[in-house]
Amino acid sequence: MKIITCVAPVNIAVIKYWGKRDEELILPLNDSISATLNIEHMCAKTTIMASSNFKENKIWLNGKEESFQNPRLSNCLKELKKRSQTQSDVINWNIHVCSENNFPTAAGLASSAAGYACFVYALAKLYEVEGDVTYIARQGSGSACRSIYGGWVQWHAGALKDGSDSIATQIVPASHWPEMRVVILVVSDSQKKNSSTNAMKRSAATSKFLEYRIKHIVPERTEKMIQAIKDRDFETFATITMKDSNQFHSVCLDTFPPVKYMNETSFIIVDLIHTYNEFRGSTKVAYTFDAGANACLYLLEEDVPEVISLIQNAFPTNTDHVEYFRGIPVTEQELS
Ligand code: PMV
Repeated sequence: MKIITCVAPVNIAVIKYWGKRDEELILPLNDSISATLNIEHMCAKTTIMASSNFKENKIWLNGKEESFQNPRLSNCLKELKKRSQTQSDVINWNIHVCSENNFPTAAGLASSAAGYACFVYALAKLYEVEGDVTYIARQGSGSACRSIYGGWVQWHAGALKDGSDSIATQIVPASHWPEMRVVILVVSDSQKKNSSTNAMKRSAATSKFLEYRIKHIVPERTEKMIQAIKDRDFETFATITMKDSNQFHSVCLDTFPPVKYMNETSFIIVDLIHTYNEFRGSTKVAYTFDAGANACLYLLEEDVPEVISLIQNAFPTNTDHVEYFRGIPVTEQELS
């Protein structure tokens, strides 16, 4: 028997990935950028056991057994076996996988990103795979490829048909911008109604706005975002982050039938942040929302206490459903 345990953090996109050009290989229509959050606060932990005694592959997610007959799981497994350097029999044994998240699953908090990054990284260790595995993690859940690295990460859409150039690379490590923090506001921890896979497919098929975004907005925005991160220019970084989140949710509404992820509380948060920035006289906080109602705020360490008290005032904890994780630093750690 051989056992590997791995921990992988979530990442929160500041340029959103939305729409695929290949459903099976999970090739995106556009480049995206994210920061990988501190590993202890929001992560997936996965243990993989391989044994000659196991009769079949099995998987448990948060203690509940799920089917292994999932093409995404089997694609990752197949790709990693192809790349394996191991001389051992482990490659022929069945595996049992246990994965747990320490935060709400499928509530638009990038749980699948952490989960698949962890699964692929642990399997890569088990099978002694060397080199880039981001293109394999991508085939589990697109955004998972960005969780393989710490710090600021770009997922390149790539142009090749086989997807071999659709990989993630690190822009800069977290130490480049050590003051950066993320505050997560858990507005709703219930599972989302529209899976990102189905919603994305519908957007790509019906939204002209998505087409426009991919062609005319994301390329320039990506360049500007990379520069803002390199220059540690918070004002530019924050403005692009908010605009890109708003645009992604506008594309969702332009989808037919529409997809709605943000709720009334999400919009109250948006207004609150704009009012706060206006009051401070410059942009101190950026909000961004993934495929769910929960808000992620990017801000600098020095502003965390004031923003936390603002949130506490706006949403006194016993009357509203807003909980929060305090000031999560962008992680320096690589996967372990
Ligand atoms: O990787 P998926 O299929 O869960 O898609 C994630 C899409 C967004 O979270 C909305 C944006 C992103 O880039 O993470």
